Amino acid sequence: MKTMAPTKQQVLDRLASVAAPDGTPLTATGTLSDVVVADGKVFFSITVDAAVVQGWESVRQRAEAAARAVPGVQSALVALTAERKPGTPPPRPAERRAPPPGAVPRGGQSPISVAGVESIIAVASGKGGVGKSTTAVNLALGLSHLGLKVGILDADIYGPSLPKLLSVRERPQTLGGTRLKPITRHGLTVMSIGFLIEEETPMIWRGPMVISALTQMLREVEWGELDVMVVDMPPGTGDAQLTMAQQVPLKGAVIVSTPQDLALIDARRGIAMFRRVNVPVLGIVENMSYFLCPKCGTRSDIFSHGGARHEAERLGVPFLGEVPLDMNIRETSDAGRPVVATAPDGPLAAAYHDIAARVRDQLTGPTRPPPRIVIEA
Ligand SMILES: Nc1ncnc2c1ncn2[C@@H]1O[C@H](COP(=O)(O)OP(=O)(O)OP(=O)(O)O)[C@@H](O)[C@H]1O
Ligand SMILES: [Mg+2]
Repeated sequence: MKTMAPTKQQVLDRLASVAAPDGTPLTATGTLSDVVVADGKVFFSITVDAAVVQGWESVRQRAEAAARAVPGVQSALVALTAERKPGTPPPRPAERRAPPPGAVPRGGQSPISVAGVESIIAVASGKGGVGKSTTAVNLALGLSHLGLKVGILDADIYGPSLPKLLSVRERPQTLGGTRLKPITRHGLTVMSIGFLIEEETPMIWRGPMVISALTQMLREVEWGELDVMVVDMPPGTGDAQLTMAQQVPLKGAVIVSTPQDLALIDARRGIAMFRRVNVPVLGIVENMSYFLCPKCGTRSDIFSHGGARHEAERLGVPFLGEVPLDMNIRETSDAGRPVVATAPDGPLAAAYHDIAARVRDQLTGPTRPPPRIVIEA
C-alpha cells in the first residue's frame, strides 16, 4: 500500500505541539516562515530577534524532530534566522568561526562527487561585499558564451543572492523520488537555498546543517551534464568554505578582491585557505577596479588601482582581470538582469568575457592554434 504524501497541514499540526521558550505553541508565535513540503522533504525557517536567538536553538531542534515525525517525511531542514534591523549587515557565523591555522581536518569524509559535472570552481573572497556573487553570475554567463554548459550553485546559505541576481521567484520542482529540478536562467542551470526558504532574513546555520544543505544541493539536484559548475561562496574562511573546499572536488578557486589593501589582506587569507586544502587558486579578479565615466568614457583610478594584479604576482597566482566600478553593473544586478546576459556586446561584458576565457584556459590549458600543414613542394 502506498503511503500518502505528507502535507503542510500535517507538519503544522505537529509544530503546534512544540513550545516556544515562553510556552506559546510555535505555530502561534508568528516566527514561522512558509512551510515547504516537497517530496517528503520539509523546509522552513524560524525568525526571531537576534538578541534571543540562542534560547531558540532547542526549539529549532524540536521543530525539526516534530516535522520528521510526520509519516512520510524523510528529512526536515529548519533554519533559525535572526532578524536584523534594515541597513545593518547580516551576522556571518562563518566569519566569526574561522578555524585556527593548521586546524583543518583532512581526509575525513570522502568528497561529494556530482555525477555529470566536469569541473566545479568556487568564487570566493575573504571579505564580504566585494562582488563575489556579481562576479560568479557574470563569469558563469561568460563561460556559457564560450560554448560551455554551465551551472551555478549559490553556496551562500547565510545570505543567498541568486534569487535576486537572476530574478528567480519560483520554487524548484521535484522530479519523482527525492530529486529537485534546478531553475534555468539565461542558459544557466541554477540552484540556491534561497529558492527553498524565505530569503529576507539572514540564516544562522549550525555546522552540520551547513554540510547537509550543501550536500543536498549538490547530490539531490538534477544538475545534468555540465562542463563547469560555478559555486558562489559565502564570504570569509569559515565552516561553509571549509566544507566546500574539503568535501567538494573543486578544480579550483577564483578569488575576488577590491583594490583596497584591506580587502587584499582578506583575499590573501582566502588564498591561504584553499592552498591549505590543496585546491588550486585559478587566479584573482580585481572588482570595482576603476571608474569609467558613463558620459565621456574617461577612466579614473579612484582607488590605488592595480593592487590585485600586483598581489597576484607576489603570491604567484594568475591575475584573471579587472572589472570597473560601474553603475550599470549594480543596477543590472539589483534588477536581476546580469550585464553579460543583457548587454553581451558592451564593454562591461567584455571585461567578464576576458576573465571567463582565462578561467577556461586555467581549467583546460590554453587552446592551441590548429597545427599548420605545410605541403612541401
Ligand atoms: N563592478 C561593480 N560595479 C558596481 N557595483 C558592483 C560591482 N560589483 C558588485 N557591485 C555591487 O556591490 C554590491 C555587493 O556585490 P555582491 O553581492 O556581488 O558581493 P558579495 O561579495 O557577493 O557580497 P556578500 O559578501 O554579501 O555575499 C552589490 O550591490 C553589487 O551590485
Ligand atoms: Mg554574495
